[in-house]
Parts: sequence; C-alpha cells; structure tokens
Amino acid sequence: MKRTAYTLLFAFLSLLFGASASAQMKPEDAIKFRKAAFNVMGYNFGSIGAMVNAKKPYNKAEAERNANAVGAVAHMPYELFGPGTDKGETRAKPEVWSEPDKFKAAADKMQAEVVKLVAAARGDEAGLKAQFGEVGKACKACHDNYRKE
Ligand code: HEC
Repeated sequence: MKRTAYTLLFAFLSLLFGASASAQMKPEDAIKFRKAAFNVMGYNFGSIGAMVNAKKPYNKAEAERNANAVGAVAHMPYELFGPGTDKGETRAKPEVWSEPDKFKAAADKMQAEVVKLVAAARGDEAGLKAQFGEVGKACKACHDNYRKE
C-alpha cells in the first residue's frame, strides 16, 4: 500500500514538474509577446477610435473585425506577466507584481468592457462610440497605475 502511494506521488510530481518546465518561457520572450498582444489591441482599438471620432469613415464590418480582434487578444498580455518579467525592455511598473490582485482586477475590468465592445460593434455607431469610451477608460486606468511613461 505504502509503495503504491509513493509511486503515485512520484508520478504526480514528475507530471507537475514536467508540465511546468515545458510551459516555461524566457522572460524576454514573455515581454515581447505581451507587447505584441498590446499592440494588436492598440491597432484595432485605435481603428475603432478613428471611426467613432470621425477621423475615418464609419464602416460597420471593419469595426466588427477590429472589435473581434481586440476581444481575441484581450486576455493574452496578462498570462505573460510572470516572475522575472519585471526586468528588461519593459515599461511595466513594479506594482504589477506587488499588487497582483489589483492588477488582475484592472485586467478583468477591461476584458469585461471589451466583451461589451464586441457586442456594441454589431449595433449602431452611437452605441459603439459609447462603449469605445468605456473600454478606453479601462485601458487608461491600468496604464495610469501600472505603466511607466
Ligand atoms: C491591467 C492593465 C492594463 C490594461 C487594462 C491595459 N493595458 Fe496596455 N499596457 C499595460 C502594461 C503594464 C504595459 C507595458 C507592457 C510592457 O512594457 O511590458 C502596456 C502596454 C501597452 C502598449 C504598448 C506596447 C509596447 O509595445 O510597448 C499598448 C499599445 C497598450 N498597452 C494598449 C492597450 C489598450 C488599447 C488597452 C485597452 C483596450 C490596454 N492597453 C489595456 C497594462 C494594461
């Protein structure tokens, strides 16, 4: 019985460490990927902003594509703020790691607003403009607290 327990424990630990080792990523890669995701968000969100602020013509199909793209990558950056990714080519403030709960709450808030943005893009321009504003506030709130100038 005892032996079985040890065998099971050993199997479990190998699984655990094996899995975590394969999921490991170089910190500089994590930083690169999270910036890439932020830039995809920035590009698409900026396109919607240009439409609702009359800097370019409103095009519903394009707005939907943009909103879907923001929605598709909105969760990505936050998987990439792991240990060791606070140093290097990054503008993230140390508070990201010292206030993880608040940082996560800011990420969750933005993601919730982005879900509504995806829905709003299927509607009319006025609704899209209103929701663009809400998402923008959520982006800014986090940048004010957690991103260096
Ligand atoms: C929960 C916090 C948080 C939210 C919400 C957030 N960002 Fe950021 N953003 C950051 C941090 C931190 C960085 C700095 C990343 C780095 O340099 O490692 C950043 C960087 C960026 C960058 C620059 C990327 C680069 O190449 O340096 C862009 C563009 C950006 N965010 C766009 C957005 C947009 C658009 C939204 C809203 C749709 C948004 N962010 C929401 C935290 C956030």
